[in-house]
Amino acid sequence: MKVVVGNDHAGVELKWVVLEHLREMDGVEVENLGVDTEEPMDYPDIAATVARTVAAGEAELGFIICGTGIGVSMAANKVDGVRAALCCQEYHARMAREHNFANVCCLGGRVTGSELAKAIVTEFVRTPESDVARHIRRRDKIMALESKAAGGDDV
Ligand code: RB5
Repeated sequence: MKVVVGNDHAGVELKWVVLEHLREMDGVEVENLGVDTEEPMDYPDIAATVARTVAAGEAELGFIICGTGIGVSMAANKVDGVRAALCCQEYHARMAREHNFANVCCLGGRVTGSELAKAIVTEFVRTPESDVARHIRRRDKIMALESKAAGGDDV
């Protein structure tokens, strides 16, 4: 599974933890798309890079880290085909994948500690999407809202 990771200046420290953890996981190929210095940068730019990579099918999953995880989740969810979830605990990560079919996980470098972040990452990568009809229907309703907003077909 190909996974991409991005971060702004507030997410550099946690990004290294997440990258190392992903590299230790079996079957995961990981690419670092984020910044490696604490020079201030605009988080919507890195959110767009990761989100577009996932939306284009060049990676199955993405992780984006800013200070809170809030800004990058807002920005990533503007990209068609992306379902980004801010995950602050393992249960968020499990449900985001299983019920919401999230393909991007957002983390807060200033709020989530290393060990919790690693547990969240494991849960996000390892939890499969549900094959239950009601969850698929709800995902499709989310995606239909997206194409309506873009002036596309009402599915
Ligand atoms: C940067 O100071 C901070 O605003 C950013 O990392 C993020 O938390 C935004 O949501």
